[in-house]
Amino acid sequence: MKQSKEAYRAYREKAAEYVGSRHTSRRRLRVPVDPDLDPATIPLTHLNVANPQLFKEDLIWPYFKRLREEAPVHYCADSQYGAYWSVTKFDDILAIDADHQTFSSEFATGGVTIQGTPASGEFMPMFIQMDPPRHDEQRAAVAPRFAPTRLAELESVIRERAGAILDGLPRGETFDWVEHVSKDLTGQMLATLLGIAVEERHRLIAWSDILGNPDNPELVASPDIFYNTLADVGEYFIDLWNERADQEPGFDLISMLAHGEGTRDMGPREFVGNLVLLITGGNDTTRNSISGGLLALNQFPEQYNKLRNDPGLVRNMVPEIIRWQTPLAHMARTANRDVEIRGQNIRAGDRVILWYISGNRDPDAIPDPDRFKIDRENARHHLSFGFGIHRCLGNRLAELQLRVLWEEILRRYPVIEVTGEPERVNSCMFHGFTRMPVRIPA
Ligand code: HEM
Repeated sequence: MKQSKEAYRAYREKAAEYVGSRHTSRRRLRVPVDPDLDPATIPLTHLNVANPQLFKEDLIWPYFKRLREEAPVHYCADSQYGAYWSVTKFDDILAIDADHQTFSSEFATGGVTIQGTPASGEFMPMFIQMDPPRHDEQRAAVAPRFAPTRLAELESVIRERAGAILDGLPRGETFDWVEHVSKDLTGQMLATLLGIAVEERHRLIAWSDILGNPDNPELVASPDIFYNTLADVGEYFIDLWNERADQEPGFDLISMLAHGEGTRDMGPREFVGNLVLLITGGNDTTRNSISGGLLALNQFPEQYNKLRNDPGLVRNMVPEIIRWQTPLAHMARTANRDVEIRGQNIRAGDRVILWYISGNRDPDAIPDPDRFKIDRENARHHLSFGFGIHRCLGNRLAELQLRVLWEEILRRYPVIEVTGEPERVNSCMFHGFTRMPVRIPA
């Protein structure tokens, strides 16, 4: 079905409503962390682990430890995002993720993130925020792009690009790893998946930053920026959709959406929504794994030594990096019915937050979880990609990018030093870095 740009006029109109305004809940979203509060003694009823400031300042760990030990299914009655349940133990998260009949991802009832402003589900419906059967039909349209044989074809492309990025890095001076390596490699891959020129990656990265972080004032000062960006994305890709709908089916994601049985008749809002999913899904996540891995190796120098002595460990290190970093700190669900977990009564309509970042540090599921171990046994036993029908579609691609990048790094540089404290993302969903100063010895 051909699409029309006209459809995105509503997005511009929505943006116009907001010009000059700020998010209504902005004041409440930015709750400063009181340095005198002790996570070990603060009353459980006051514990709000979703405060983005805790993530930005990397203070979150003792809070999750306390919840796992004392209130693994915990109700927070009042937060900047309203009331919500926190689930923090590995096995509970897995069980809820596997039960999509009880725990819905539908955007109409709240979707998959706790971040809420501006409310975007209506404007960008996407299959990660749908339940079956629509979810399954739309996922099936793009899934073949991520099949092992298709990914194998990408390996040499990734290797070449990783090599070019690494060869261009300065020696003997401090530079930002996030900007020069993590963002650039993932942005290039995104352009390839969408079948557009790699030179367009900067645009994709900027869009992804805005659309994936609607409530982060460092990236989206007011909602009009968000809605105008949605319109920009729709208008940019609609011509490609129309062009590719007329051509033979190809293996870029636009063509797959335009020809897929479950997606070819979707409307312009779903088109833009699914594009946003594909753009943001693989962007911050892979980017932050690339940065997080380098930081982990610097924090655990004996592991870095081990890696230098045996570069074959890269394959096992990759899932360990993804566990360690947990680039998506949480995914949310909404209970479809009353349900009891660990003696807690979750009611139909309640919001339930699955804290992957906590499950991945649960000692009952992962031995010695606070240690980064590149030769960890059973390293794939982690929650970072979710579980069940929404399990990450790009997991193998993410692993491939990390593996190839690290193989190429080790060929060139025995050491890359993190020279200062990294700056972290202001979000309780994307767990990662905005800046990481590093130096490659001359
Ligand atoms: C280390 C990198 C990555 C991590 C940690 C990650 C994490 C996740 C998680 C946790 C989910 C499940 C969401 C849920 O259960 O509600 C998910 C879904 C998804 N991811 Fe990833 N992801 C990564 C890389 C990628 C890449 C590279 C792509 C593709 C370009 C991608 C595309 C998707 C898509 C399309 C979904 C939706 C699947 C569905 O709803 O059926 N991801 N990802």
